[in-house]
Amino acid sequence: MGLAWPAQVRLLHLAIFVLALLTLCICLSYTSTSQLHTTSSPIRSLMTSDRMFQVAPNMTAGGTGGSSGEDTGGGGGGGNAQPSVTAQSNNNHSVNSISSNSSEPDLTRGVAAELIYQSGHVDVSEQVCPELGGNLKLLICVTSAPSHQSARLAIRETWGHYAMRKDIAITFMLGSTSNETINRQLEEEQTLFGDIIRGKFVDTYDNLTLKTISLLEWVDNYCPKAAYVLKTDDDMFINVARLLQFMSKHKPDQRAIYGRLAQKWKPIRNKKSKYYISPQQYKPSVFPDFTTGPAYLLPAQISKELYTAALNHTYFKLEDVFVTGIVANGLKIKRVHASEFLNKKVSFTTCNLQKAISFHMVKANEQYDLWKRLHDVTKCKT
Ligand SMILES: *[C@@H]1O[C@H](CO)[C@@H](O)[C@H](O)[C@H]1NC(C)=O
Ligand SMILES: *[C@@H]1O[C@H](CO)[C@@H](O)[C@H](O)[C@H]1NC(C)=O
Ligand SMILES: *[C@@H]1O[C@H](CO)[C@@H](O)[C@H](O)[C@H]1NC(C)=O
Ligand SMILES: *[C@@H]1O[C@H](CO)[C@@H](O)[C@H](O)[C@H]1NC(C)=O
Ligand SMILES: *[C@@H]1O[C@H](CO)[C@@H](O)[C@H](O)[C@H]1NC(C)=O
Ligand SMILES: *[C@@H]1O[C@H](CO)[C@@H](O)[C@H](O)[C@H]1NC(C)=O
Repeated sequence: MGLAWPAQVRLLHLAIFVLALLTLCICLSYTSTSQLHTTSSPIRSLMTSDRMFQVAPNMTAGGTGGSSGEDTGGGGGGGNAQPSVTAQSNNNHSVNSISSNSSEPDLTRGVAAELIYQSGHVDVSEQVCPELGGNLKLLICVTSAPSHQSARLAIRETWGHYAMRKDIAITFMLGSTSNETINRQLEEEQTLFGDIIRGKFVDTYDNLTLKTISLLEWVDNYCPKAAYVLKTDDDMFINVARLLQFMSKHKPDQRAIYGRLAQKWKPIRNKKSKYYISPQQYKPSVFPDFTTGPAYLLPAQISKELYTAALNHTYFKLEDVFVTGIVANGLKIKRVHASEFLNKKVSFTTCNLQKAISFHMVKANEQYDLWKRLHDVTKCKT
């Protein structure tokens, strides 16, 4: 009370405005969630990989969980691991029902990848790969997180510089973020470099497999004629010259994935682990052989079948086990061990750098030093 007329009118307008805004927000969030569900295709075989008896869960450390899940939490992942430990109450066999009202399906119950993967890309960067890759020997796909600008810059300014060659291209594969500051920076980065691909998923550790699926979809759509694709992370140092040497000794018409082979790794059944895989997600007690995630090489021509088949498997977040293990195994694509893929941290001496292809756990500011050291003229025994 006591307010003058114009003030009351203004208040009324303000109230109406706020109300309208609220309605808009609610509508928007409603349509975006319902879209997410309606675009999913009908439920298909959700447990494609249960071809063996269930073995009592064995809590041995089943490997490091592979790859991108590297121990330091950097890398292509982004967010923290939040293994969902919510499975206790829902132990029904209605595994395949994602209730349309819950926004986050419990993936440990076993959900087909096609139900959570949304195809297409926000940033496409198709110019990275002219003529569908017909002239490309090598496409380097670096999985990265939206906030890892300095890692991407360091790669472009060091080993990523190989992309100036007509027969080599590099691209960075990201998910989405709600952080508007980062989104603005990403737009600028994309204007400057035009080498970013963004898929339609939130960039988190749990979504790493979606990132690789998205990468495969992109290669199939925009770069299927390239000879080879290197999938690697943004905390890796790649000796590209050595990689080219390796490629020249193999043929891109092989149905094979090359890298550091991991054999007989077991799923971790401890729900508290970052790498927990439920029996509904993967039943057998041993994973098929796979190439570890930090870096692996594949002929571009197999990206289509990998992509298609990946959507037909029960999703879990260990992208290397999923794609190069389970999916490739189902397609009878060979996994070939190549010892030059170190995929780990070693002492970065010139000789070590010159001998191998891929090195893990490299910080952005270290890239420059390694790049320089790689080119030191010293005598290394071969
Ligand atoms: C788990 O696996 C390890 C090594 O493969 C074996 O020694 C151990 O007995 C197993 N434990 C159980 C409970 O099966
Ligand atoms: C679990 O399954 C049983 C029988 O299959 C059914 O009666 C029960 O309602 C289900 N519970 C839930 C929470 O879906
Ligand atoms: C989803 O809706 C069903 C009824 O349609 C309800 O019983 C259930 O509690 C809801 N679940 C959540 C997580 O809101
Ligand atoms: C967004 O990102 C910026 C830059 O990385 C960071 O400083 C800020 O805290 C983030 N904001 C939110 C809301 O997470
Ligand atoms: C990605 O991860 C987030 C958080 O872990 C989750 O809410 C979301 O459902 C996941 N999937 C997609 C398609 O974004
Ligand atoms: C999906 O998996 C089912 C069962 O394993 C199989 O019969 C079907 O052929 C697969 N579809 C594709 C497109 O791979």
